[in-house]
Amino acid sequence: MSTPHRYIIVGTAGMGEHWCKATLPRLAELGKAIPAAAVDINADHLQNAKAYLGLSTDLCFTDINIAFDKIKADFAIIVTPPNFHELVVDTALAHDMDILSEKPIADNMAACCRIYKKVTSAGKKMAVTMSHRFDQDKQSLEAIVHSGAYGKLDYVIGRFTMALRKFGAWGASFRHEMIDPLLIEGTVHHFDIFRGLTKSDCETVYTVGWNPAWGEYGGDSQALITMQMKNGVKCFWEGAKCNAVTLNGWTKDYMRAECENGTIELDARKLRLLNSRIDGEITGKELPLASGEVWRNEWIAEMFCDWLSGEREDHPSRLEDNIQCAALLFAAVESAHTGQPINVQHYLKQHLDN
Ligand SMILES: NC(=O)c1ccc[n+]([C@@H]2O[C@H](COP(=O)([O-])OP(=O)(O)OC[C@H]3O[C@@H](n4cnc5c(N)ncnc54)[C@H](O)[C@@H]3O)[C@@H](O)[C@H]2O)c1
Repeated sequence: MSTPHRYIIVGTAGMGEHWCKATLPRLAELGKAIPAAAVDINADHLQNAKAYLGLSTDLCFTDINIAFDKIKADFAIIVTPPNFHELVVDTALAHDMDILSEKPIADNMAACCRIYKKVTSAGKKMAVTMSHRFDQDKQSLEAIVHSGAYGKLDYVIGRFTMALRKFGAWGASFRHEMIDPLLIEGTVHHFDIFRGLTKSDCETVYTVGWNPAWGEYGGDSQALITMQMKNGVKCFWEGAKCNAVTLNGWTKDYMRAECENGTIELDARKLRLLNSRIDGEITGKELPLASGEVWRNEWIAEMFCDWLSGEREDHPSRLEDNIQCAALLFAAVESAHTGQPINVQHYLKQHLDN
């Protein structure tokens, strides 16, 4: 086995706390990666790095430049709000490091493209933690659809609706203050789930987005989104943060894959195959979820370490793949703002050519 990679984590509260508590100790147990240092602009938040990663005070920094200049590491982990991702990417690249970043790549398409160009031209590896696509329930649905056992996939429906309308109900304040919270902080995961299920990138997206009078958000918190994928599969998604009830929240999504010979329904982690008999009676049977040791960020981070070591050739959410997810995300935002359908592939090319 190769020596463990050394990392510097940037952002240690909020989702960063989960990284310190759950994701990173496992990498150390596996001998895949160990902490070199932690950075957070708020000194109090570094307590998580001390408590869960065992870092001493002199390895915890509030200034990213001092940390990266002083401490040698192989890769950076980015868990800051999206508008600071590019700053951390720049610092990591200046120190010849690879990057594992929380989603989305950045908070706007221009920054995503700059990051894409900087990382690829530096020849470094970067992956994005699309936690929910790599969760057990979505991977199980993907495996059944991809098996072809129920014929060709025709279309997919998704629902993610929550009762989180009050300020602070959706965690950090930036989510309630930003202009497109639902899409940038939420739907980016679902876009990637649709890409995984359909095994295709998106051709055209059309979004109707809004914030109801009772939504304590800086912009669209509800959306209805139609997508046509490049391979012809159609998708529709309902997302809401301000409903009166949480029907399908985080980790309990509703997804329905309409295949030629079977409707495969995932609802709050229960997977079913549904058909209608000739007499109209509905037949249904529960399908087992796939088995695996770990899912979500724990799995994504492990694959990242194996990719760095050369134990795997590729990473399923590497930057080169994830830029398609960013293009779909920001094209959907543009569609919501303009009221027009957007050709995602033209949108991506236009932004990369800029
Ligand atoms: N994959 C998931 O399921 C999931 C869930 C939640 C959040 N996220 C992502 O994690 C990232 C962080 O979100 P969050 O909810 O934890 O935010 P947060 O505001 O709760 O925490 C961010 C942390 O970063 C620190 N920070 C802010 N700016 C910094 C900078 N310039 N340098 C160093 N530290 C800085 C803050 O002090 C704070 O400790 C975002 O990209 C978000 O989209 C992912």
